[in-house]
Amino acid sequence: MLTFAQLSDLHLDNGPRATARARQVVDYLRPLAGELDAVLVTGDLADHGLAEEYKELADLLDLPCPVLMTPGNHDDRAVYRQVLLGQAASQEPINSVHDIGGVRFALCDSSIPGRDDGWLADETLAWLDSVLGDGPSFVCFHHPPVLLHSWVDGIRQFGAERLEAVIARHPGVVAVLCGHAHTAGATTFAGRPLVVCPGVVSTLVLPVEDKREHAPGLALHVLDDERRLTTFYRTVV
Ligand SMILES: [Fe+2]
Ligand SMILES: [Fe+2]
Repeated sequence: MLTFAQLSDLHLDNGPRATARARQVVDYLRPLAGELDAVLVTGDLADHGLAEEYKELADLLDLPCPVLMTPGNHDDRAVYRQVLLGQAASQEPINSVHDIGGVRFALCDSSIPGRDDGWLADETLAWLDSVLGDGPSFVCFHHPPVLLHSWVDGIRQFGAERLEAVIARHPGVVAVLCGHAHTAGATTFAGRPLVVCPGVVSTLVLPVEDKREHAPGLALHVLDDERRLTTFYRTVV
């Protein structure tokens, strides 16, 4: 059994509001972190892709468990690489694979430099196809590849039929995990669960709801030995 947390859309800008909301969530997580197998963070880590914002993130997410991160449309690949990964600046997609407790996490860079919508580059899809084996795995990225019936639809991940074809070749994919929508949500993609993580910095509301702000949230995922994923959402006040 694997238990891990997912955060998304911290949009750290070294300002008091984003910092306070991120701290609320991390203060909730920190006492649990020793029991968690991982913390997954699905993009929009920084608000402007600045080095100081990534330094704040690194300090905040210094947790006693593996922290897996992937960029979003507010991130800057070059600065992200330099500050978070200690690598040379490059605009190549930031893809990474992590094996935790017999489960593979494939983190794909769905950002497009200079744009808010998302797309998986051909090289990212080829890489994903090569790292997904027969064992249980999660495909993780920032932009949801489906309509969520809200304003975020216009900047969703496009070209999703290409991703669907890759996932169809890999029955071990348990679920697709994403962020970007700043709301908890659950739907399906390529016949698998598609789980949307709530946002830390703000909450998207549907057209039928009032416009009040909601508390920051996170997801807690449990993958059992039958490869069934159960997701629990928490709001942290
Ligand atoms: Fe965001
Ligand atoms: Fe985003």
